[in-house]
Amino acid sequence: MAPKQKLIIDTDPGQDDAVAMLLAFASPELDVLGITTVAGNVPLALTQENARKICDLAGCTDMPVFAGAEQPLARSLVTAEHVHGSTGLDGPVLPPPATPLQDGHAVDFLIDTIRSEDSGSVTIAPIGPLTNIAMALRKAPDIAERIGRIVMMGGGYFEGGNITPAAEFNIYVDPQAAAEMFAAGIPITMMPLDVTHKAMTTAARTAAIRAIGSKTAVAVADMLEFYERFDEEKYGSDGGPLHDPCTIAWMLQPERFSGRHCNVEIETESDLTMGMTVIDWRQVTDRPHNAFVVGDLDADAFFRLITDRLAKLP
Ligand code: RIB
Ligand code: CA
Repeated sequence: MAPKQKLIIDTDPGQDDAVAMLLAFASPELDVLGITTVAGNVPLALTQENARKICDLAGCTDMPVFAGAEQPLARSLVTAEHVHGSTGLDGPVLPPPATPLQDGHAVDFLIDTIRSEDSGSVTIAPIGPLTNIAMALRKAPDIAERIGRIVMMGGGYFEGGNITPAAEFNIYVDPQAAAEMFAAGIPITMMPLDVTHKAMTTAARTAAIRAIGSKTAVAVADMLEFYERFDEEKYGSDGGPLHDPCTIAWMLQPERFSGRHCNVEIETESDLTMGMTVIDWRQVTDRPHNAFVVGDLDADAFFRLITDRLAKLP
């Protein structure tokens, strides 16, 4: 087997974040060095606790989990309890976390790990607002050239926005942080709504996860059945978009995804379009290509991968 890919997941759990974390934990191709948490779907006090509960589910109680930014760089925090519920992980009833919260700030863990691991060997997967990433780059600009790749979920173009007509939630919460990350010269793979809206949980796919029958699989099915109600009630869809696991699945099976190298800029001035990701998909400018933007995936393969890997967890 190829050498394990080293990975730090930066997250705001969130049911879809939970599936991304569990997919990573269940995949021997990956070496998850730690979990850094950020305020987003719900406040930091809950996202860090939820991340620890997810580690418990997978039996990874020794996984280093750090708390990071409580607020965006400059704007007031916007949360998404309307989607994820008051705990951020509504659906299953999970016990208080056994996985400890590490001392120290998530930003310092990011910096120290990138500095201590071989240059270029670590991937960072931000699947929430990008505040921790921007803070780390501001505090330690030297790490930009040492980060192997960023594989992030956020933004949208043809799909528009999901928190405003123009902006996707992760970018909207901290547009300045996103702008600084996209300008840092780090190789980025971007999973916008344009691909994640093609990764719908559907009743059949959720039932296949529940049919695994394990504690983790049943908890995931309970999470998804809560999470998908928002899209089902609002849009009449079958299921909801499973955004965040697209990052991990791309690391495992990139051939199941397609996209193109583009320029991505972030709106940080206009109130109307704040947090919009302006993706030059049709290459109409000579702006530098700063991201590989993913537009499509093999959704059946995506859910087969998730189901197969969840079956390996307790
Ligand atoms: O817009 C979807 C993103 O916002 C996902 O990461 C979801 O977990 C929320 O954080
Ligand atoms: Ca998230």
